[in-house]
Amino acid sequence: MSRLVFDFNNAMTQMVGAYGFTAQEIDEARPAVNAAHKSLAGKPPGFRKLPGTNQGVLDDIVQTAGGIRKRCDTFVVLGIGGSALGPIAVHQALDTGDCGMRLLVEDNVDPERFARMLSGLDLGKTVFNAVTKSGKTSETMSQMMAVAERLEKAGLPLKDHMIATTDESGGNLIRIAQREGLKTFVIPADVGGRFSELTPVGLLPAAACGFDIRALLRGAADMDEICSKEEKNPAALFALLHVLGMKKGVNISVMLPYADSIKYMADWYAQLWAESLGKRVDTDGNEVFAGQTPVKALGVTDQHSQVQLYTEGPFDKIVTFLRVGKFRCDLPIPAAFAYVDDIAFLAGKTFGQLLEAERSATEYALCRAGRPSITITLPEVNEYTTGALLYFFEMATAYAGELLRINAFDQPGVEEGKKATFALMGKAGFEAKKAEMDARPGKNREWILE
Ligand code: PA5
Repeated sequence: MSRLVFDFNNAMTQMVGAYGFTAQEIDEARPAVNAAHKSLAGKPPGFRKLPGTNQGVLDDIVQTAGGIRKRCDTFVVLGIGGSALGPIAVHQALDTGDCGMRLLVEDNVDPERFARMLSGLDLGKTVFNAVTKSGKTSETMSQMMAVAERLEKAGLPLKDHMIATTDESGGNLIRIAQREGLKTFVIPADVGGRFSELTPVGLLPAAACGFDIRALLRGAADMDEICSKEEKNPAALFALLHVLGMKKGVNISVMLPYADSIKYMADWYAQLWAESLGKRVDTDGNEVFAGQTPVKALGVTDQHSQVQLYTEGPFDKIVTFLRVGKFRCDLPIPAAFAYVDDIAFLAGKTFGQLLEAERSATEYALCRAGRPSITITLPEVNEYTTGALLYFFEMATAYAGELLRINAFDQPGVEEGKKATFALMGKAGFEAKKAEMDARPGKNREWILE
């Protein structure tokens, strides 16, 4: 059985105290949860149709990926935010070092990094996948421009080495793709960047790495069924506990995976939770300044970095442990240094056992210190459980948006930054924004120290 297991005990136990939750609180919230449930069923957000993506699209992805795998050894994603974090998380989860493709995800315009990346490529064996929903994002456009020039200089046809993944009609990328004859994949109009991992945005890189994208979608489809239930719905309960927590000042959601393979799930979740729920106004236009700050951490590494704060610092966190039931391999701890009695207890155990003991100990320590936590177990890390986990968090985010009565699917704060960048970089049409920026109060030299 490869179903995910959701354990809410350490948020509900009396041992946690005032920052934990009671059955009565859950009961009292039932009408709100029912309303959220109805709303998500009545007007399903765009991402809910992705588990049923039509076979034609999947065949096209698999066939294109197969062709790439035959002629290339490197697949480079040019994209940022929702176009990048999902492919990174899925690749980290599923690649055990033998997937036969090097995946690079370029989600920054740091000149040193990008220059180093370009100079390390065998362009003839590389495919670039430019991914942007809006088709306009400055970072992705500049990366594409740099790559196009490199390919031209190398005498390599753009259409053999660049793919476009974008909106069907809006933005610059689709114009470029049509003009240059690029192979193009469509991001459905009603699926925003951070909810797009199960569109071609994530499916093409996954297929190019040889992963089974149909199993990813099967995991998502089964999770959709689980999260469609009125009762015992883990996504609704996850969302409710976080929203109830916000009312008690629990303003931080820590994602703490205990396995390197799912380390970047925390980064992906951080964007999903932050960008979806961090909103100034509710759906009636009232200022609410909603949201909860996601923190990404890694067990056991951060036990020796952040856990002291989680255990004894402010009562402002709810922790989600991600644990793996069965690792793809385990490593015995041998009985070396037998003359040191103090380490004898480790001999004969495994690294996996130690990792799980550390996780369980941290869960206990948090509970004892009055800090709520939730534990999600992936029986093992594979395509099915990865798809299920991604989809679970998308559903939980959608529920949280409903409970907070905010629009979880827009990102005006991000758009504002994009517009300000256009203005600073001299894009036509953004002169008024530039003037507005220039009119802000000047800098006081007193506060500039050298
Ligand atoms: O979730 C989102 O909408 C954003 O984080 C976008 O993914 C990010 O800003 C990149 O946008 P685009 O895909 O339009 O280039």
